[in-house]
Amino acid sequence: MPRKPCVAGNWKMHMTIPEALELVKIMLPELDRIDSVEHLVCPPFLALPSVAELLKAHDVDLGAQNVHWEDSGAFTGEIAAPMLKPFCTHVIVGHSERRAYFGETDGHVNRRVQAALRHGLVPIVCVGETLAEREAGDTGDVVQRQVRMGLEGIARIDAEKIILAYEPVWAIGTGVAATVADAVETIAGTIRPLLAEMFDADLSQRLRILYGGSVKPSNAADFFRHPDIDGALVGGASLKPEDFIKIVQAAIP
Ligand code: PGA
Repeated sequence: MPRKPCVAGNWKMHMTIPEALELVKIMLPELDRIDSVEHLVCPPFLALPSVAELLKAHDVDLGAQNVHWEDSGAFTGEIAAPMLKPFCTHVIVGHSERRAYFGETDGHVNRRVQAALRHGLVPIVCVGETLAEREAGDTGDVVQRQVRMGLEGIARIDAEKIILAYEPVWAIGTGVAATVADAVETIAGTIRPLLAEMFDADLSQRLRILYGGSVKPSNAADFFRHPDIDGALVGGASLKPEDFIKIVQAAIP
């Protein structure tokens, strides 16, 4: 069964509500034309209800950028899956900025993934090594640990719903993307075999694995041409409507 490509725009901490609506409105006519690629935007929490309303009649999915593991409680500044579920289909979990600036561990990531799945949200689970880890030759080990711990205890039937994103930290927001060969080495050489070991060969072939890190219109097609790369998680370029549209178009099979 061929995997449907997926392109997700991670808006990070950008866009007020009116700006978010404006950006989506500009992109909708083109995105509506493309149904062979799953495409979604992930605005800041506050814009989710308004953007969800705008997207109601359209085939563009909506994701959040994080989710807490409890359904409610004394967790100031956090957001729970039942609060997101009326608006979102997806949620980014374990982004390297969460890991680097907010102290998220693989254990947190695992609990967030479980919460998302429990509430029917598709987790987009991010993994990737830092420059120091790559230079020390630890890329494989780091990514293996992140995938193993991030998906620990997840039943196969739930694991099927997950999307993984391989995002080398040194490529995020730097303008310097990984080479296709580097991305393939980790995705096909490390992550898929590990999924086969943790679950089974069928699941390792079913799960979509995106590449993320300085994806732009000029390099997107190179990544998507490779059969093991199922799309992209896009940061900076997802804020530029023409660029995001071109990236989604490049993913059309
Ligand atoms: P970038 O970000 O495309 O700006 O490198 C990717 C991401 O953080 O997901």
